[in-house]
Amino acid sequence: MDKIHTEPEDDIAVDPTVHVTTVYGDDWQSDTTSIGSSLYRGLEENGRRYQTLSHKEYLVPSDEKQFETYEAGHLVALIMDSDQDNPLFRAPIENPKHILDLGTGSGNWAIDVADMFPEAIVRGVDLFPPPVKWVPPNCILEVDNIAEDWTWNEPQDLIHMRIMIGSFDDKEWDRVYQQCYDNIRPGGWIEQLEASPYIECDDDSLPSDNILRTWGPTLAACGERAGRPLGTMDTMKEAFRKAGFVDICEKEYKWPLGPWARDQKYKEAGTVNYHHWMSGMEGWAMWLLCKFGAPKPWSQDEVIVYVAKLRNELKNPRYHTYERARRVWARKPFPEEIAGRDRDNEGVTIKVEE
Ligand SMILES: C[S@@+](CC[C@H](N)C(=O)[O-])C[C@H]1O[C@@H](n2cnc3c(N)ncnc32)[C@H](O)[C@@H]1O
Repeated sequence: MDKIHTEPEDDIAVDPTVHVTTVYGDDWQSDTTSIGSSLYRGLEENGRRYQTLSHKEYLVPSDEKQFETYEAGHLVALIMDSDQDNPLFRAPIENPKHILDLGTGSGNWAIDVADMFPEAIVRGVDLFPPPVKWVPPNCILEVDNIAEDWTWNEPQDLIHMRIMIGSFDDKEWDRVYQQCYDNIRPGGWIEQLEASPYIECDDDSLPSDNILRTWGPTLAACGERAGRPLGTMDTMKEAFRKAGFVDICEKEYKWPLGPWARDQKYKEAGTVNYHHWMSGMEGWAMWLLCKFGAPKPWSQDEVIVYVAKLRNELKNPRYHTYERARRVWARKPFPEEIAGRDRDNEGVTIKVEE
């Protein structure tokens, strides 16, 4: 088994040919600053730092504040599946050799999976260099744009994505799923966990005119105007099927927002999710509202005031609020299955987990 040792973040592999001309203009060669450090510097806008690798803007900042949010989101996902032997993913892979985490953020999932499978090589890839100084020796964190052509050679046992909503338009999503399919070995798995931007409530504890109810529709409308639909959790299953995956399974969640639930697991998840939202909301909203807010783009101050009001309401433990989330995992068929399916003209099976 190959072992690849990853050096600290200064040595993260960067493809210097990617978007050099589009991001830095044609006179980039005259710049004395290295491309690597430009990537770390990112682009400052409305008080936040954004990635500069892709010429297409990604809506969430890549800065310390948001990395904190990613840690909290990771924890919420783990707590919600803490009754599972493996809370990191559901795909039934055995003795994996190659695992890929697309849009790895701060690399937390990739690092945990590398620890769980020391014999596997786990790659995490993101537009912005993940803010970690040390990773397990079998974990590689790379900077690359997954909307472009992929260059990995090894067939993957598992490709994973989490909270990637708003990253792509519909066409780009199709291409990402197709590249997942092409890069997974026959019999290998894809898995994606996504959450909804809507704040929901099953009883009357959240008044119908509460500002928290405006968050989901406001952001979803901005996402539509931006050409980045935020309904990925409801579209990914069909997208898997369209890409050719079979044995599609799903698990639905309600991630509580706040410590209001009785059950200990939900109480803990809700407490961490509260921090996830408190630290995350400004970053989730800033780009969308400042570029695509209605009736006209909002100012930075307007976003800050809106988020402050939302935060204030989120503090109310009497509101039984939550967000929906869904995990979907599916298998790439073997060539003989594809031949058989074409012969029999069979559909695919969709299993729904309780
Ligand atoms: C909301 S974060 C989620 C991070 C991580 N998956 C997690 O759950 O903690 C989405 C990540 O996807 C990355 N991303 C978005 N578009 C990308 C692209 N085209 N190529 C690579 N990474 C991308 C962003 O930079 C960001 O770090």
